[in-house]
Amino acid sequence: MRTRVIVTLLTSLFVHAADACSFPSALQGTWTSSNYGTFTIGSSYLYMTKSIISGTTGTNFTCILNTGNFYIVESMQAFVPFTGATTYYRAYICFDMRAVTSYSYYYYQQSDKETGFNNERIVGLANGTTVTSTSQVCKTTVDVSEYHTLVKSGAGYSALVTCPDVMLGNYNYKYTDATGSYCTNTTVMDVCSNKSVITFNYTQCSQRIAYSASRREPHVATCQFYQKCLLHEAVRMD
Ligand SMILES: *[C@@H]1O[C@H](CO)[C@@H](O)[C@H](O)[C@H]1NC(C)=O
Ligand SMILES: *[C@@H]1O[C@H](CO)[C@@H](O)[C@H](O)[C@H]1NC(C)=O
Ligand SMILES: *[C@@H]1O[C@H](CO)[C@@H](O)[C@H](O)[C@H]1NC(C)=O
Ligand SMILES: *[C@@H]1O[C@H](CO)[C@@H](O)[C@H](O)[C@H]1NC(C)=O
Ligand SMILES: *[C@@H]1O[C@H](CO)[C@@H](O)[C@H](O)[C@H]1NC(C)=O
Repeated sequence: MRTRVIVTLLTSLFVHAADACSFPSALQGTWTSSNYGTFTIGSSYLYMTKSIISGTTGTNFTCILNTGNFYIVESMQAFVPFTGATTYYRAYICFDMRAVTSYSYYYYQQSDKETGFNNERIVGLANGTTVTSTSQVCKTTVDVSEYHTLVKSGAGYSALVTCPDVMLGNYNYKYTDATGSYCTNTTVMDVCSNKSVITFNYTQCSQRIAYSASRREPHVATCQFYQKCLLHEAVRMD
């Protein structure tokens, strides 16, 4: 840590390249993430309730580098990848953050899938590695449809946006995730009765979409992409 601070200071004497990271105030606060539970973001850290490191209940990251939309975070904890290993690693995530409203963001994780992290787009680097360039962690550009969402806690329905015309209507859907394919293509998804909300009919197919135990999936972020993404990424608001 001390080494990194010195390196950053020296670098900034010569070039104004990537900045040491500090999350803008707009991103600070508590958020519901569509893939990693609750985020608590401070000026220099991001804590998620999802555990990336085995044997822990959540993961705290330090923000170490910011360039444009890219925020690279590093796990505060160093860990061994498996019991008995002697080399310590840290986990890194390249968040590519895009604001939608003051209450909602969507983000990409611009790294390759890593089997050591359950095929998550998370990078493991040996403890002690100095990350000075986003390219050490942001190694890929994922498909435009592969985004996740953040909704500010307590924002309630003010995080909602109206779906674009192309999404409005009643659609048949089939739900697919890592565990298999559910519902037939005759089940109906309603993006018409309420233009900000996607309503699934759980009588037709009981498979819950995203987190929801209710029938309504407020549509919070970017629906300009594809139907399948909405099904995967809708965030429950109530
Ligand atoms: C995460 O780290 C920050 C900065 O050290 C600290 O203020 C915060 O309490 C930590 N959060 C948790 C849940 O450990
Ligand atoms: C990780 O590396 C830092 C130096 O970057 C060192 O101070 C720390 O002891 C190392 N942690 C482990 C668990 O090896
Ligand atoms: C629904 O699935 C059946 C069986 O796979 C297929 O024959 C049919 O064309 C599909 N209908 C639509 C609208 O995709
Ligand atoms: C759509 O649903 C949201 C959430 O229930 C609600 O706040 C909003 O008023 C509804 N909009 C319309 C036009 O009914
Ligand atoms: C849900 O599906 C069932 C069975 O097809 C149907 O009877 C019911 O009217 C549907 N509910 C809504 C709100 O569309």
